[in-house]
Amino acid sequence: MSNVQTILIKSNDAQVAEIASTALNEAEGYRLMFCDDDRAAMRRLDEVHVNLMLYDYQASVSDDESALIRCRLAYPSCARITLFDAAVEAEGVGATDRAAAFVFLKKPVNAAQLRLATKRALEQVELSRRHRILTRELKLSVDDDLFTGRLTSSVQGGYSQFERLVFVSAKMADLVEEARIAAKTNMPVLIQGDTGTGKELLARAIHFNSQRRNSPMHVQNCGGIADVVLQSELFGHVRGAFPGAISDRLGLFRAADGGTIFLDEISEISAQFQVALLRFLQEGEVKPLGSDEMLHSNVRIIAASNKSIEGMVEQGRFRRDLFYRLRGFQLQVPTLAERPEDIPLLTQFFVEKYAGVVGRRVLGVTTDALRRLEAYPFPGNVRELENEVQRMVAVAEQGGYIAWRHLSERISRIPIREEGTGGFVPVGSTLKDMVESLERAIVAQALDRSHWNQSKVAQDLGLSRVGLANKIKRYDLTRKKR
Ligand SMILES: Nc1ncnc2c1ncn2[C@@H]1O[C@H](COP(=O)(O)OP(=O)(O)OP(=O)(O)O)[C@@H](O)[C@H]1O
Ligand SMILES: [Mg+2]
Repeated sequence: MSNVQTILIKSNDAQVAEIASTALNEAEGYRLMFCDDDRAAMRRLDEVHVNLMLYDYQASVSDDESALIRCRLAYPSCARITLFDAAVEAEGVGATDRAAAFVFLKKPVNAAQLRLATKRALEQVELSRRHRILTRELKLSVDDDLFTGRLTSSVQGGYSQFERLVFVSAKMADLVEEARIAAKTNMPVLIQGDTGTGKELLARAIHFNSQRRNSPMHVQNCGGIADVVLQSELFGHVRGAFPGAISDRLGLFRAADGGTIFLDEISEISAQFQVALLRFLQEGEVKPLGSDEMLHSNVRIIAASNKSIEGMVEQGRFRRDLFYRLRGFQLQVPTLAERPEDIPLLTQFFVEKYAGVVGRRVLGVTTDALRRLEAYPFPGNVRELENEVQRMVAVAEQGGYIAWRHLSERISRIPIREEGTGGFVPVGSTLKDMVESLERAIVAQALDRSHWNQSKVAQDLGLSRVGLANKIKRYDLTRKKR
């Protein structure tokens, strides 16, 4: 992972933008993104992995509409610093507190102070990130020993992120490697993969890792939309080009000049539109509907499809020349079933995300529930997993674990291979009770297996003889008579 820190600056104050640009420059590893208002800031937070938000507080924005408050709930690990005028100091301090921001700065902002506050806030985020990972490792190693005896080594070694793409699988790592290379170029990218595998997220990641990141990425869905509408959306039209075209319209291709256009469901475009798109890809030419004028635009095309374009080419339903042009880079996103090792981490990621959104404390997911999630084929891929986790978080008890009983029926029915503890399902409602019930079962099993050879069992389980004797007494274990 690179050490670039992404900083989102929400302000419509030119002075703030200027001071931030000088105080936090790229040479020091900062990547700055600017947004005028809360809505744009929220969109950015959803799209990009932001490390710190610099938030220019405005009294007119309510908590519900505030990107600052939303950031705290949905992306708690994104650091927050607020700025405000002396005139709204009391409200500004209140909002800073409600959003658990790192610190507030009064305007006009002092560059040196901003630089230092940013540095400290990011250090704090890094420390708590490490703390979280260590805690999780500890918890996992404890769980693994006690519940399954199986190591989920992939999670323990930390994990990878490409923008908001979360994964541990080698398949995704390879894909992201290719995507990084694609991001550095201006070539078109064709992303294929089943529904819900993360094609759009990957497209955003490519955009935000490209030179175009400070220009917009526009999304156009090409499915279920009349040809003339699609053409006018993308290429624009002149007044009177078709009934209802009452004024000129600037198409996305020109509006997004310098940026990226994401064409979703590219398989659905008409033969006529295929020609227009090909012309754009070959010559960079854009001809608005009803106009004779050829305009030019410099946008990068990323197209996605959940149907195989190659197959459509074979059937004569998609132009071969267009297919070749589109796949400057051709990326195939694997289904979730092809990379089940991503399921535990994605689950954890979504648990944190939704627990944050609804303000609920969830301690984690029990191994038993997790194993069922891992065994389920997820025809709807990551989106289906995300929806499932969102639902589970909603039905879980405050401060508890997400367990088997919280899974939807279709997943809870999934049989899992019995291993290690013989498919033992711990009883009890608190973790302590469950752990104890399991410990009792393990000790009893080991004793039975060795025909109550206590020294052997003590040695196998890494206990002292006295320790074992105490457990036998505590759990009231007796030798079965045959
Ligand atoms: N690797 C991932 N890490 C985190 N979130 C992911 C990942 N992959 C997908 N998601 C999430 O899953 C959901 C579906 O992803 P996305 O919309 O990118 O899929 P898609 O392939 O475009 O689906 P469709 O073909 O149905 O349009 C989104 O909410 C996205 O944020
Ligand atoms: Mg999509």
